[in-house]
Amino acid sequence: MITFHTIDDTRCWIKDRRQAGMKLGFVPTMGALHEGHLDLVRRSVAGNSLTAVSIFVNPIQFNNPDDLGKYPRTLEKDERLLDQTGCDLVFAPSVEEMYPSPAREKYDFGELEKVMEGASRPGHFNGVAVVVKKLFDIITPNRAYFGEKDYQQLRIIQTLVEMERIPVEIIPVPTIREPDGLAMSSRNRHLTKGERTIAHEIYQVLLEIRRNAGKISIAKVKEQAVSRLEKGGFICDYIEIASAASLRPLESWDEKVPARAFVACYLGNVRLIDNLEIIL
Ligand code: PAJ
Repeated sequence: MITFHTIDDTRCWIKDRRQAGMKLGFVPTMGALHEGHLDLVRRSVAGNSLTAVSIFVNPIQFNNPDDLGKYPRTLEKDERLLDQTGCDLVFAPSVEEMYPSPAREKYDFGELEKVMEGASRPGHFNGVAVVVKKLFDIITPNRAYFGEKDYQQLRIIQTLVEMERIPVEIIPVPTIREPDGLAMSSRNRHLTKGERTIAHEIYQVLLEIRRNAGKISIAKVKEQAVSRLEKGGFICDYIEIASAASLRPLESWDEKVPARAFVACYLGNVRLIDNLEIIL
């Protein structure tokens, strides 16, 4: 495995291998890798002749400078894990390398960016789209792997690829969870011991929503979920039942519209998100 910090070195390494006809899988990350990330990498290693992983804490997708400042940076450990997982190339650029001048691109994702994370974190998805587009231009992957943990991000990237006609296949990957059901996330390390022991309640609430789907009205299901989380010591940002394709919030169950349940809430200072497919 080799690590590059510049765009030129990365392009050159990839070009040689492309000319030899090798297929390239790509996993974009912000580092602080855990089993969720490594699962994406394993799938890429299994499905392609080469795997590239980017590690870049993208400043323009953070709307809270505090969040950016305390984002964990663990490059050496990440490199060790990636090497063991069969990754071939790590691209770990500096902020100056990625943004020699401020990014100006503005994408319009319509409704997709106006709900849930888009509403709670203005500018976040534009920042994600800008960096992923740049990374696709540099890496030119055949396939790219994204986690359903960040489902709205996955839909944004699928839409970006369609809008910009980027020749890459987007592979969605199911969420990897801790044994108690908590979705793996680099934010989990900021939970206190006490918070960590109750954090799995989020997944329990999602499972309860799934069990009640089609049986109790959506309004009631949401109300029960908020009340259960708040009793458990969480502060809810949103609970939503939305169309899995458009992310439009649903007001009634409909077997013809595939849906997902989404949660964002605070446990102490840590904001956690999760989502689950609804089966009617
Ligand atoms: P990051 O949070 O590092 O996540 C990188 C990828 O890992 C994303 O596709 C995310 O959905 C996936 N992932 C995270 N936790 C997961 C889990 N528990 N199970 C499965 N997949 C999981 O998402 C980003 O970085 C950035 O926004 C990025 C796309 C790299 C652009 O900066």
